[in-house]
Amino acid sequence: MRVAILISGGGSNMTALVDSMVGDHPARPCLVLANDPRAGGLETARGRGIPAAAVDHRPFRGDRAAFEAALSEPLEAARPDLICLAGFMRILTGPFIDRWRGRILNIHPSLLPKYRGLDTHARAIAAGDAEAGCSVHEVTPELDDGPVLGQARVPVEPGDTARSLAERVLVMEHRLYPAVLRRVAEGDRRPLRLP
Ligand code: GAR
Repeated sequence: MRVAILISGGGSNMTALVDSMVGDHPARPCLVLANDPRAGGLETARGRGIPAAAVDHRPFRGDRAAFEAALSEPLEAARPDLICLAGFMRILTGPFIDRWRGRILNIHPSLLPKYRGLDTHARAIAAGDAEAGCSVHEVTPELDDGPVLGQARVPVEPGDTARSLAERVLVMEHRLYPAVLRRVAEGDRRPLRLP
């Protein structure tokens, strides 16, 4: 299986996914694609010998259809079987998602269906939640919706800030996403629970 990974920034989840696709793993990375030419993850990918490209969203000025058409060019050329969104911070619209229906995965830093959207850790702390975490889900046209394929729970500690909680959740993201990718690549979409 060929896996394309979409990023916006440092790409630590992308790196965890790439580094997991070795040996008897049924998938291999075919492309790392960013919406920002300065995304740090692009260099990391190139350093690992993976084709990497950027389609800057800014010149499109809110014309999501035109941006998605441009994004689709390198993506189609890479012929992915699966697309992993890994810290990809642009909203994708229905036509793009329909083109890859059932083949786009996303990682989101909350225990979905709680806290779709942004500032998930601050919202979990403000709500007094005892636990936070992350979810990998299949992407559907609704934001941060779609069948959950795996979740990892992280206790909220007294004195936690959004930043300290995010750091601990990110450690679990790096375990959860590769584990879910491997199961999906093997044809198993039953939800996975960590730890
Ligand atoms: C991760 O925490 C990921 O869950 C989050 O962005 C971070 C990217 O870090 N994604 C979202 O908030 C998506 N709405 P990374 O670039 O180091 O993987």
